[in-house]
Amino acid sequence: MSQIENVLHENRHFPPPRDFAAKARLGREEDYQRMYKASLEKPDEFWGRIGRELPWMQPFTKVLDWSNAPFAKWFVGGKLNASAVCLDQHVLGPRAHKRAIVWEGEPGDTRTLTYAELHMEVCRFANVLKARGVKKGDRIAIYMPMIPEAAIAMLACARIGAAHSVVFGGFAAHALRERILDGGCTAVITADGSFRRGAVQALKPQVDEAVQGLAQVHTVLVVQRAKNPVDWVKGRDVWYHDLGSQVSVECAPEAMDSEDLLFLLYTSGSTGKPKGIVHTTGGYMVGAYLTTQYVFDLRDEDVFWCTADVGWVTGHTYIVYGPLANGATLVMYEGAPNAPHQGRFWELIDKHRVSVFYTAPTAIRTFMRWGDDVPARYDLSSLRLLGSVGEPINPEAWMWYHRTIGRERCPIVDTWWQTETGSILITPLPGVTSTQPGSATRPFFGIEPAIVDEHGTELGPNQGGYLVLKRPWPSMLRGIWGNEERFKEGYWKKYPGWYFTGDGARKDEKGFYWILGRVDDVINVSGHRLSTMEVESALVAHAQVVEAAVVGRPDAMTGQAICAFVTVGKGETPDDALREALKEHVAHEIGKLARPAEIRFTDALPKTRSGKIMRRLLRDIAAGVETVGDTSTLEDYTILARLRHDED
Ligand code: PRX
Repeated sequence: MSQIENVLHENRHFPPPRDFAAKARLGREEDYQRMYKASLEKPDEFWGRIGRELPWMQPFTKVLDWSNAPFAKWFVGGKLNASAVCLDQHVLGPRAHKRAIVWEGEPGDTRTLTYAELHMEVCRFANVLKARGVKKGDRIAIYMPMIPEAAIAMLACARIGAAHSVVFGGFAAHALRERILDGGCTAVITADGSFRRGAVQALKPQVDEAVQGLAQVHTVLVVQRAKNPVDWVKGRDVWYHDLGSQVSVECAPEAMDSEDLLFLLYTSGSTGKPKGIVHTTGGYMVGAYLTTQYVFDLRDEDVFWCTADVGWVTGHTYIVYGPLANGATLVMYEGAPNAPHQGRFWELIDKHRVSVFYTAPTAIRTFMRWGDDVPARYDLSSLRLLGSVGEPINPEAWMWYHRTIGRERCPIVDTWWQTETGSILITPLPGVTSTQPGSATRPFFGIEPAIVDEHGTELGPNQGGYLVLKRPWPSMLRGIWGNEERFKEGYWKKYPGWYFTGDGARKDEKGFYWILGRVDDVINVSGHRLSTMEVESALVAHAQVVEAAVVGRPDAMTGQAICAFVTVGKGETPDDALREALKEHVAHEIGKLARPAEIRFTDALPKTRSGKIMRRLLRDIAAGVETVGDTSTLEDYTILARLRHDED
């Protein structure tokens, strides 16, 4: 892996700038050591104290119940409401008229919502959901563009005790349908469309296709954004603005048990269909609240911009719940980074005086390619802290981010976490940690990671192994929706008592973690996990395909790119036209993100005698092809396949 080589030679250190450390929430190494030690030695005391900073409707009586591991209960007996944590506590205090959301549409239209206004809009939305019969315990699918109503809808669900299941707006109808079915969602919240790269991107047709014939879905609630024409199913479909104008803007928050479901969020695993990761209310909110505060060193005057889509966990925790729980001002942007020009993000930072900026390595690499002169045109002096998430950041991209965006003034927090972990777990603390390009550095409070070998033996410094977490943490997943076995099997069985992350990593002599990426058959494209299985199923569903194997190969832009090995049926012609048709087919079935970068036809796939496709071999082939150019022929693969058969 090229990443391993890169990091091995990395010996640059970037201590926090003195003036940053002086003003930081945590500015001295001793403070981190003291708090970290306390969090491990007296976890109940530590988490109890942090937990009590949230406005509970009924106090919790016990911090952690781990007696039924791996099913954790945090803040046992407590009652709270996530939307009240995000809104009501601020509306009652000095932040009532502080800006909560500063939104900008791709065409340049803007909307600002203060905490008081956001509170009102969330109550209105909650009342609309109620009017449509949505109640506590229901699951509601949200398939939205990046408009304020995406966040409002999530908070409205939380307010009335319904769980949201946000599906990324870039996913195709089939993927949406699968998630609606798995979660048993009874309503879908969507928009007519949104503006993306200068055009209207419709959303309603995908929803129509996804819910066709599904009796379980009684309502499709449509927010008007792009005013594009939409098909309408009478009785089922409702315009949000029609109902919204008829309901009250007051709605008391439901008292939720700390362990009541807050949301489902689907993520890819190595086998089978996507997993509905279960997050509950109390622990998740404590994790979101605390990490936002310390990792981003949040202050009241900050303007925080996390560029993720609300359809991913980063959008859940660091657009909606974390910043709002802290009473922050957040920026939300609808469109693409290059619409109408490549300086759009820097223009937004300049215009809205963004002080904390959180994005993904894949975006940073794209900006690098666009050239230094683009950000150079803007005033980025409002920035004081930068963040990265989603995949290992290569040191070149880190250095570019540091120089060209941070102008060598801003610390960078490279934050490691997962959909399952709910919040950031391995990260620098910007006032304390001397960072190194490519390292997520050290565990956050209460987190006890380790690097182990196949048998669970802890490895020494700089030995690459599996990353595990040795104790539970508040925002951890509580399960996989409807599949207890898969939860136990996938995360807890390999190393009993420890959480298996599925990532490879090493720890250096000073205790810094260097994440090496996924060790399973999951591909990380642009910081988003995709399961090889899902792409394979889509390919095999195509009439001309008999077999398919999908692997990731290194890609300079997207981190990993999808390479598919495909065997076509007898009499079919494996040509460029079919190649294009298959790419389109996958994009249509799953979404553009899953579109294979490369399709290679082969008349046989390398398999073990038991019939398992040898993906490791295909990965090598896919990676090799990238470096030496396209020298492959059909025969090569057949020969390899035969060779492997003989060895087996
Ligand atoms: O492999 C790790 C990578 O992204 C995976 C989690 O993906 P997902 O659940 O989609 O959540 C992404 C946003 C939290 C991890 O298992 N990953 C995430 N952050 C980093 C990372 N790899 C290296 N460095 C990171 N900072």
